This record gives sequence, C-alpha cells and structure tokens, in this order.
Amino acid sequence: MALNVVDMTPAIGAELIIDKADLLSGAHAEEIRTLVRQRGVVFVRGAHLEEAEQLKVSHSLGKVQEAGKEGLQNISLDKEISISADYLRGSFFWHIDGASDDMPNFAATLNPKKLTDPPASTYFANTYAAYDALPDAEKKQYDTLKVVHSLEASQRMVTPEPSYETIRIWQTHRPKKVHPLVWTHVDGRKSFLLGATADYVQEMSIEEGRALLTKLRDWATQPQFVYKHEWEYGDFLIWDNTGTMHRVDPYPVDSGRLLIRTTIDGEEQVA
Ligand SMILES: [Fe+2]
Repeated sequence: MALNVVDMTPAIGAELIIDKADLLSGAHAEEIRTLVRQRGVVFVRGAHLEEAEQLKVSHSLGKVQEAGKEGLQNISLDKEISISADYLRGSFFWHIDGASDDMPNFAATLNPKKLTDPPASTYFANTYAAYDALPDAEKKQYDTLKVVHSLEASQRMVTPEPSYETIRIWQTHRPKKVHPLVWTHVDGRKSFLLGATADYVQEMSIEEGRALLTKLRDWATQPQFVYKHEWEYGDFLIWDNTGTMHRVDPYPVDSGRLLIRTTIDGEEQVA
C-alpha cells in the first residue's frame, strides 16, 4: 500500500496517510525516517496505537532508548506517574532534547493517552529552514560560534530561585556542554542548535551572547518556520530532534495530561 504525504506548511510538518497495518509492518520505515528528516515533524491521524504497537513502530525507525518501561516513557506533570515531572515544566519553552549530550537523540514519538480540554498544543520550529533563510553574510558570522548549553539554564526558567541543593543537582546531573551554534550534519545540511538550554556564546560577553541567542530564537520561531500540532486522540507523531526545537502550551500540573513517548537514539555527533 502507498504512503501518502500531505505537507502542513511549506517549511515544516506533514500528515502521513497510511493504514495502521502498513505502519506496523515496517515496510515504509525508511521512507518515514526520510520524511521525518525532511519535514521536521510528521504524524498519522487515527492510528490509535497500543503501547506495544508504538514500541514496534519505534523499533522500525531506529534504536529505541531504554528509558521508562521498556522504552515507553510517561510524559506528564504528575509526579506519581512520571519520574521527570519536575523537569518537564521546562517543555513549556523552546528547546531540543538532550542538548547536553554529544549525540542528542535523533527522534521521538508521541501518542496521547489523556489530553486537556481544550488540548494543549505542541509546536515545532524547523531550525534547518531558519538557518537557510538567512543571508550568506549572516550565516558566515554564525558558522564558527560555540554555545554553552546547560540544564541549569533551562530549569531556571521554571525555578528562578532554586535552593543550593537543587542547583547542584542540575549542575552535576547534566554538566554543561559546548556545541557549535550551527550544526553541520553528516548530509551537509545545517541547522541552528538553540533553545532554553543555550546559556551563552563562548566568543562573546555574556550579555552580547544572550542577546544573540534571543535574537536567533525569535528568528527561528517565526510563523513561517513553525508547525502547531493540535492534538487529537489516536494521533501518532514523530519529530526530528536534531533539526527542530519544540515546546508545549502550558497546562495545569494536576490536569492528568499524559502522552506516551519513545525516544530514538542519536545517530550523529553534533559537529
Ligand atoms: Fe522536549
């Protein structure tokens, strides 16, 4: 059976029209991986995947991280069901996942189990398209800069007055990491590596660097680079974590909102 693709905007997002049986067969896995890289984020409506099925499709897309329960992670602000509930409030701000890693995860999948009413939307910004749209002179100016990323930078946004104990946990749990501002991927394409974890620019004063990071985040999250996903039950969504930033609209801690996530291992070093 064919896989049909409907682009959501010129720069980002695509709906995949595919039978559930075809999705589960893995026959289109390579094509879907390519679409994830090209479109930044793709989704199937009405898939209604059971957890085992989500895991099966995830395994067809790459190496599934052994986080959570056999790779199935609860994404919720409820501490009873999510071990990372405290950190997840950071997802209200533009970020990439694993920005402190040498090799941030390639992709992740989401499958909603309990949505808020109305559902909190998730946004994805194409950081390849944002880079490509700049004039050459500006690209050249950014190509050599290096950015210090830290969990602390992103967590300060949700906990601006942390205790000493908390800040030490942030700093030791995920030590800071230096990445190029512009990620040159194995296939030659370039994307910005930005987001809430981006603290300052190595070659600049703290003030100048933070101003530049803010300017570029504003640039990269303009409407022409962004896809807003309005969740429906039955959705199955996959995004390229290496070429997008994402965030979710804030929702109440006690809302019960729960999405099941799988994470596909990184396949290329940041370079
Ligand atoms: Fe995230």
